[in-house]
Amino acid sequence: MSSKNIESHLVEKRVFKPSKQFSKKARIGSMSAYKKLWEESIKRPDKFWAREAAELCWQEPWKKVLEWKAPFAKWFIKGKINVSENCLDRHLGTARQNKAALLWEGELGEKRTLTYQQLHREVCRFANVLKEHSVKKGDRVIIYMPMVPEAAIAMLACARIGATHSVVFGGFSAEAIRDRISDSQAVVVVTADGGYRRGSVVGLKKNVDDAIKDDAQTIRSVIVFQRTNQPVSMTEGRDYWWHQEVAKVNADCPPAALDSEHPLFILYTSGSTGKPKGILHSTGGYLVGAYTTSKYIFDLRDEDVYWCTADIGWVTGHSYMIYGPLANGATSLMYEGAPNFPENDRFWKIIEEYRVTIFYTAPTAIRSFIKWGDHWVTKHDLSSLRLLGSVGEPINPEAWMWYHNTIGGGRCPIVDTWWQTETGGIMISPLPGAIPTKPGSATLPFFGVDAAIVDDNGKEVGPNVGGKLVIRKPWPSMLRNIHGDTARYKEAYWSEFKGVYLAGDGARRDKDGYFWIVGRIDDVLNVAGHRIGTSEVESALVSHPVVAEAAVVGRPDELKGQAVVCFVTLKEDVTATDQLRDDLKKHVRHVIGPVATPDDIRFAEALPKTRSGKIMRRLLKQVASGGAITGDTTTLEDLSILSKLGSSED
Ligand code: WT7
Repeated sequence: MSSKNIESHLVEKRVFKPSKQFSKKARIGSMSAYKKLWEESIKRPDKFWAREAAELCWQEPWKKVLEWKAPFAKWFIKGKINVSENCLDRHLGTARQNKAALLWEGELGEKRTLTYQQLHREVCRFANVLKEHSVKKGDRVIIYMPMVPEAAIAMLACARIGATHSVVFGGFSAEAIRDRISDSQAVVVVTADGGYRRGSVVGLKKNVDDAIKDDAQTIRSVIVFQRTNQPVSMTEGRDYWWHQEVAKVNADCPPAALDSEHPLFILYTSGSTGKPKGILHSTGGYLVGAYTTSKYIFDLRDEDVYWCTADIGWVTGHSYMIYGPLANGATSLMYEGAPNFPENDRFWKIIEEYRVTIFYTAPTAIRSFIKWGDHWVTKHDLSSLRLLGSVGEPINPEAWMWYHNTIGGGRCPIVDTWWQTETGGIMISPLPGAIPTKPGSATLPFFGVDAAIVDDNGKEVGPNVGGKLVIRKPWPSMLRNIHGDTARYKEAYWSEFKGVYLAGDGARRDKDGYFWIVGRIDDVLNVAGHRIGTSEVESALVSHPVVAEAAVVGRPDELKGQAVVCFVTLKEDVTATDQLRDDLKKHVRHVIGPVATPDDIRFAEALPKTRSGKIMRRLLKQVASGGAITGDTTTLEDLSILSKLGSSED
């Protein structure tokens, strides 16, 4: 985050109160109602969460709401619950039975509607396919799919039988799949022949083939959904077509009674080492979190058409396209493709056509819309919208105002929702009928969230003093562990301050207690709302035979929030050329995936290091953003290095 943004946070004076109309209908309709419930949720979490959890269906009731032996929490002890039953079966036999659960639009314009009853049927059938492939409770299943309903069906089918899913974003590479298979020890991969993105076809099956061609590791079956009809190679005895498999089974599959703490999913995310962390989420607590936050923050009601634009491969797609909305019996819209295909107004066309009422997207997308121009928006009727949401990175006040006026017509509250893969659900956000908003602030903590800003000693700081964002009490949808690496779990989140969750973000609170998130404090970048570890990119770079050493930093970027800048030293006798620069970019794309493609590669004779050999990233960040070198350079080993790092063209 640039200092300009921090300053604009401090001077931001605009406050937007929820309209009377909105508040009157909303579940939480006033600040005092919010405060009262929040107080209760912090002082009597057992009482608060028991009441919320009781709205879901439990196959066996819990004996105790919370057991907290820091840093390990258990929620709804001894309770038995099934997520797919709560998202599907619970609505059957009610007026929601024939209501659209999923509205789907393909990039090419195809449309599908799946009612709760239809979705239930498809999920049961696919669950039976998984059983046929000997998937047992507790087994891991990798889902590497385009944005089609079958991705959601596969997730819910896993949930139904107690298999733990791990969705791998369709933009990740074969190597990323291989690493995730090896870390999760998955037994089945669910994929598609291909997917559509901005008019071109992405070869998903091909990537899976590459990931397991030399060594299938633990994978026994690959189930392939036919989406693009492109030719793919099918390995006999390993690869199976989705449509052929579901034709063999019936739709009778009772939901397994799962322990509340049973692992629902693992989702890999970047941290400050080269190896992604497998964030492990539970069943009961996670669902209670996703359900409750969706209910209060999006204030979902039966007549809503709710659209979250996130990909199913990110946690937002898990919690706020599938589990949260479906547990609430809502209608969730899923769009397969890009916002600018075939033209820049695709999103606005969709909103107009489906009469979308709630729209949840990311600041990086909003900044692109602004750049494309208002005329793409104003030619569409967006009057159905009643609530807007933002997630993924701090939203700059200018983008917030544009979102409010141009998309929301000045009438829709904006919920700027702060949370993380690790938190499972939204942690800091306005409640749209209760909490006045300020452009750029995620405002106040959700129920049960004890968030604070502390200094390096863990002491809470005063108003407008920057510090580290921590959460001081456990919450139901919190991560339970890092899959297979408890030591890292303790180290990454719980070691800096005892018993307190370290989010990894820098933030401040203003005099009204509102949170202003500034950005990551660790070596993690936020590129277009995607988390990318600098060391992941560094290890990708040094895996190239000509690279001796690499250091990766972020540079503020108007559209993407941050751009990836790489400083690379080459092995002796290797000449730096433009061709090589391109090769290295391609190499990183190949190793991690298009999301991590470097924006800038700068060749250097040496990297600035302290006398003890630590790369001075602070200096590199300044160099990358073209700023003057300020601050202490006394520990720098060789000052002459600095003058040579400046340009990308030498
Ligand atoms: C990081 C988590 C949570 C779903 C999407 C990203 C940043 C997220 C906000 C927001 C400021 C935000 C933080 C956080 N972030 N939402 N509303 N305001 N920053 O999930 O990949 O786990 O990334 O995204 O830096 O730590 P993720």
